[in-house]
Amino acid sequence: MPRKSLTDLYQMKAKGEKIAWLTSYDYPSAQFCQAAGIDMILVGDSLGMCVYGYNGTLPVTMDQCLVHSEAVRRGAPDVFLVGDMPFLSYQTSDAEAVHNAGLFLKKAEVDAIKLEGGVRIVDRIRAITDAGVAVIGHIGLTPQSSGILGGHKAQGRTAEAAKLTLEDAIAVEKAGAKMLLVEAIPPEVTEVIHKTLSIPVLGIGGGLPCDGQLLIISDLIGQFQAFTPKFVKKYANVAEVVTKAIKEYVADVRGSKFPGKDHVYSMLPGEADKFRKLVGVKPAKKSK
Ligand code: KIV
Repeated sequence: MPRKSLTDLYQMKAKGEKIAWLTSYDYPSAQFCQAAGIDMILVGDSLGMCVYGYNGTLPVTMDQCLVHSEAVRRGAPDVFLVGDMPFLSYQTSDAEAVHNAGLFLKKAEVDAIKLEGGVRIVDRIRAITDAGVAVIGHIGLTPQSSGILGGHKAQGRTAEAAKLTLEDAIAVEKAGAKMLLVEAIPPEVTEVIHKTLSIPVLGIGGGLPCDGQLLIISDLIGQFQAFTPKFVKKYANVAEVVTKAIKEYVADVRGSKFPGKDHVYSMLPGEADKFRKLVGVKPAKKSK
């Protein structure tokens, strides 16, 4: 299937077809995503936790995001790819934000970038959009600012808080964002945002009333084990499968059951005897 463009994704919204979006951080999982027919991939800064074992996303650097985005692009050349702007890659100035957003396009050939924040970040969204880069906004629970949100908590749970979340959504669209991601907000709030905005609204922990869903691949396949957010549905238990495989390998090695006959290279006919003679080693006993 050819890579979907922004126009294709807008047409999906218009037809009421849901958009399936998933994170990926490496070449093999990107290949799996493409083979499975995913519409969009995000190389999220969640790679900090899922790949590097950090406690959160704040330590993640532009270099890490770029290296992983490049690998994912190689694995999924036919999927709409979104680069994620890590902490301090856009907060400091418009110029730095535009430069870093541009690097995602230059190095990893992404189709869009995502950044966190609503009303307070509209200047950056406008600047990056003016530079010709498609921006996806991200509001609700924004992990890079969990310090001022009181932790990794659902947002918009009171009427007043929900109104602020809606204001963020409107501001992001007005600033030129091409899509919006809402994270960890009640479906009632997602529904109003979806009805109010004309750009596609996607959710991770935002319930059903939006144009598509995002999940983190490490959660979906049961690889990430530190914690499981409420909005995650696990479709596989890779941790169990892989741990079982490694245990069997360990037992095989310890019991001299691996490598077997099928896993070794044979010498050319007659060469083994010649070799032993050459180095003065007794011929091997013939097996019966
Ligand atoms: O980095 C990421 O994967 C994200 C999602 C949690 C939305 O930003």
